[in-house]
Amino acid sequence: MSDRLAIDGGTPVHDGRWPAWPPPADERQRALLAEVLDSGAWGATSGPLCDELAERFAASHGARHGVTLTNGTLALFVALQSAGVEPGDEVIVPAYTFVACATSVLLLGATPVIAEVDPQHLHLSAETVRSAISPRTRAVMVVHLAGSPAPMREILDVASEHDLVVIEDSAQAHGARYDDRPVGSLGTAATFSFQSSKAMTAGEGGLILTDDAAIADRAWSLCNVGRERGGQWYGHARVGWNLRMTEFQAALLLPWLDRLDDEIALRESFATALAAQLHAQGGEVDVVADPQGTTRNSRHLLILRLRGPRDRDWVAAALEAEGVPVDLGYPHLGSIEPVAAKSRVVGDPADRYTDLLWLRQPMLMAGEAGAVKTAEALHRVLADARSRDRLAQDERY
Ligand SMILES: Cc1ncc(COP(=O)(O)O)c(C=O)c1O
Repeated sequence: MSDRLAIDGGTPVHDGRWPAWPPPADERQRALLAEVLDSGAWGATSGPLCDELAERFAASHGARHGVTLTNGTLALFVALQSAGVEPGDEVIVPAYTFVACATSVLLLGATPVIAEVDPQHLHLSAETVRSAISPRTRAVMVVHLAGSPAPMREILDVASEHDLVVIEDSAQAHGARYDDRPVGSLGTAATFSFQSSKAMTAGEGGLILTDDAAIADRAWSLCNVGRERGGQWYGHARVGWNLRMTEFQAALLLPWLDRLDDEIALRESFATALAAQLHAQGGEVDVVADPQGTTRNSRHLLILRLRGPRDRDWVAAALEAEGVPVDLGYPHLGSIEPVAAKSRVVGDPADRYTDLLWLRQPMLMAGEAGAVKTAEALHRVLADARSRDRLAQDERY
């Protein structure tokens, strides 16, 4: 390999062919899909699979009840409403998350309160939640970001002090564990997404978990045009919508439950190997830490932090050229103007996440061998970035 970086015309560290996501469909998915197709029972009102998925997913995540639906955004909207959040209430959401955390609150006519995250682990903390509470606060939405569980102990303590509903947005954390319990079983209710990039996917899809039978019944009703379970077809106890998942989606997701653990272990092998290599290279870049109490990070993404000043855009472009694609990740939620205009923003929305880089799930599925190549590319690119910094400094003096 030449000494020159690929961005300067050298040979890339990696050929850029990372595992595909989603992985190829397995035999059980193909068989179940064909069964649904042949049965003609394609919708959840006629087939059994959505109910089976809700039950098995709930059991595997330590919750009593599950409700399947169209996607993770509407899962948040329905979970909030089912847990008693009303128009005019305030819902605390983290500043570092996907936009749906705020837009689901807006859909309900409630106000997102965009609270700071702890710079160490990028989650809400007791302190940041406390500083966002007002007399109108009704709920806090924690996000198990990138597969890393939020620090639930301290957040649940604040929530119980102030009588707040806690919604766990687990869109990125299927199979993660905190305090030896699965995420999805820790708050008032939890939501999951099965959108294309997620750890279990059917292209789209969502699921709500809760231990509270009344919340589960309301959620089911909201997703089923306001009907009551077992009630009249044209009986509508409340205003609701058709937010149902299809049987085809459940057919793709049910077999996935049996391989989720193996896939998490494979992604963990990437994360562990990369963290060790980065440490050995001197810690110019490292993996963002998990909060205390984390039992299992499900490694949906790996978020890296560049230490020291670096031109992140150039680093990302140079890594891409080496065959190691990275993302720049989220802006501060409060810097997204149409959202901020309808939210209460606590703290300074100036983008302060400019030292972060994301490695996406398909790369992590390359396991240890993928981590070795990623570490090599990072090492080469950061060494070059360092000498460019030095050159820039020399030129200044
Ligand atoms: C943290 C988070 N919350 C909510 C969502 C919304 O899920 P969906 O795309 O299924 O609507 C996503 C992903 O898209 C997400 O990453």
